[in-house]
Amino acid sequence: MSPQNSIVYLDHAATSWPKPKCVQEAMWKAMEEEGANPGRGGHVMAVQAGKRLMRARMAIAELFHIQNPLDIAFTLNTTMALNMAIMGVLNAGDHVIATSLEHNSVRRPLGWLKKELGISVTYIDTDVHGNLDVKQVEAAINNKTKLLICNHSSNLLGTILPVKELGLLAKHHGLLFLVDAAQSAGVVPIDVQAMGIDMLAFPGHKGLLGPTGTGALYIHPEVDVKPLLYGGTGSHSEEVEQPETRPDRYEAGTPNTIGIAGLEAGIRFIMKQTVNRLYEHEWELTQQLMKGLMTISGVRVLGPKLGEARTGIVAFQVHALDSSELAFRLDREFGIAVRAGYHCTPLAHATAGTIGEGAVRASVGWNTTVEDIEKLVAAVKHCSENSQK
Ligand code: ALA
Repeated sequence: MSPQNSIVYLDHAATSWPKPKCVQEAMWKAMEEEGANPGRGGHVMAVQAGKRLMRARMAIAELFHIQNPLDIAFTLNTTMALNMAIMGVLNAGDHVIATSLEHNSVRRPLGWLKKELGISVTYIDTDVHGNLDVKQVEAAINNKTKLLICNHSSNLLGTILPVKELGLLAKHHGLLFLVDAAQSAGVVPIDVQAMGIDMLAFPGHKGLLGPTGTGALYIHPEVDVKPLLYGGTGSHSEEVEQPETRPDRYEAGTPNTIGIAGLEAGIRFIMKQTVNRLYEHEWELTQQLMKGLMTISGVRVLGPKLGEARTGIVAFQVHALDSSELAFRLDREFGIAVRAGYHCTPLAHATAGTIGEGAVRASVGWNTTVEDIEKLVAAVKHCSENSQK
């Protein structure tokens, strides 16, 4: 039996699954018909593979209102995109402002640059629900501040941050603005121009419904980012320097063409469904889940309150149960896949007051049903009533 028939998959925040049929078919077709190396060779198949990448860039540009598709550099994931942006713009002595909801893919590169280059970082605390006070961000700006980084939606709390206001603030103070859209791309509308975003890092394999090993960084045409990788681009091969032209400057090495074909199909699927409808679908399910969990005694639900905006993430603690043990039991006894622990974001756990214990995180997606949520609530209730602790 296919796992799809037996598993209740509630780990979409880690990666969406299953991928729509059109994504699987696009990848198969790319493998069969366009399997050559794009940009390396002038033969018909290489040219076709290059066109495939361009079509994917155009789909991304349409979704995020990016003027020039060549300002999009493909990466393996959001982590690589964030590293490219952070490592590529910061120099010794620079100051950075970020939030207490950042993922380790922001915290660790910043930590490394702090140690190696002596940059300084201010993390602005949100409240326990993940709400950010933009005035506190403004108060932290000094004459060394170069970069403002913001997680568009917390991978622990699901809170959606005020990116447009932060973009205006960054512009007003001449700061670069980097947005981590790991949990928002594909489910929250993003307009890089209207939101004043200089760099947008996003995964292909979560809300955009592409396969793992896909992601990208959008870089505003006037922002200079040093490449993260240096090497073959299929262009200007005689020169020792990395080419200046985009996207070659940021795409050394053979790209994941087959994965990117799947990513394009995922984006076209989303645009047909519409981002707003997908958001509504996920939001309704989070509300059902929150209400269900709140009927169980000893459960604490993290993040925004009932009725407030959030992405498809609901993290919770069950007073009587260790989070890893609960996730293990949900998996083994009920076939329900969730993620427990710290979710690579100790900063957000400290913010939520769950740093000692961690939490269980259920995250919904395009194919999650009301029945899936009912099963999770019933299973949590059962575990909570039958715990040894
Ligand atoms: N960052 C991903 C998560 O939150 C992998 O699970």
